[in-house]
Amino acid sequence: MNTRLGWLAVIGAAVLAGVVLVVCVALFFGASVVTRSSSEVAPSDQYASNGQLIYFTGRNQRGERIPFEGGPMWLSNWLYMRGGGCATCHGADGRGTVMMGTEVPSDIRYHHLIEEGHEEGEEHPPYTDELIKEAITMGLNPAGEPLDLTMPRWHMSNQDVEDVLEFLKTLDGEH
Ligand code: HEC
Repeated sequence: MNTRLGWLAVIGAAVLAGVVLVVCVALFFGASVVTRSSSEVAPSDQYASNGQLIYFTGRNQRGERIPFEGGPMWLSNWLYMRGGGCATCHGADGRGTVMMGTEVPSDIRYHHLIEEGHEEGEEHPPYTDELIKEAITMGLNPAGEPLDLTMPRWHMSNQDVEDVLEFLKTLDGEH
């Protein structure tokens, strides 16, 4: 019995090691493949709106990559290689999923942003449409204070930021 368990453990470990190896190799080679395919086509027809396209890919419908300042250092490389937009940090549903160092990307669903006292421990008035646009393009919260530098400052046209805002409003569905 014991020896059988022992063998099971050995086989299990071997399988695990194999999987880890395959994943490493895939990541290593996958990066270059993804770069090539993502620079070929802007997959605009996958997305219902310009705002949604920017939110998920960091590109607009004209195929331009939205330039940004700030953000963590690895991000520029990551976005350069893989593409990516707000969803990379705030999650596909806008709730903010990924923990980055000490900063948790905020829940940026529209209804949440315009709520009074929407963030615990932070004292500032609720967001308005204009203030949300300033947060995105200038990295300022409603009190005029700079957001953490983990949040990139996005240099997008007024139309683009308008479209992103409209998209944030569509995330309101699930509470
Ligand atoms: C590298 C990760 C990252 C990316 C990419 C990113 N954000 Fe953020 N964002 C953050 C973090 C972290 C915060 C919280 C900053 C703080 O609390 O000071 C934040 C805060 C915000 C806020 C303010 C929320 C609040 O509660 O004050 C808005 C609005 C926002 N992001 C919108 C966007 C939009 C729109 C995009 C895409 C165009 C985007 N973010 C892309 C990390 C990111």
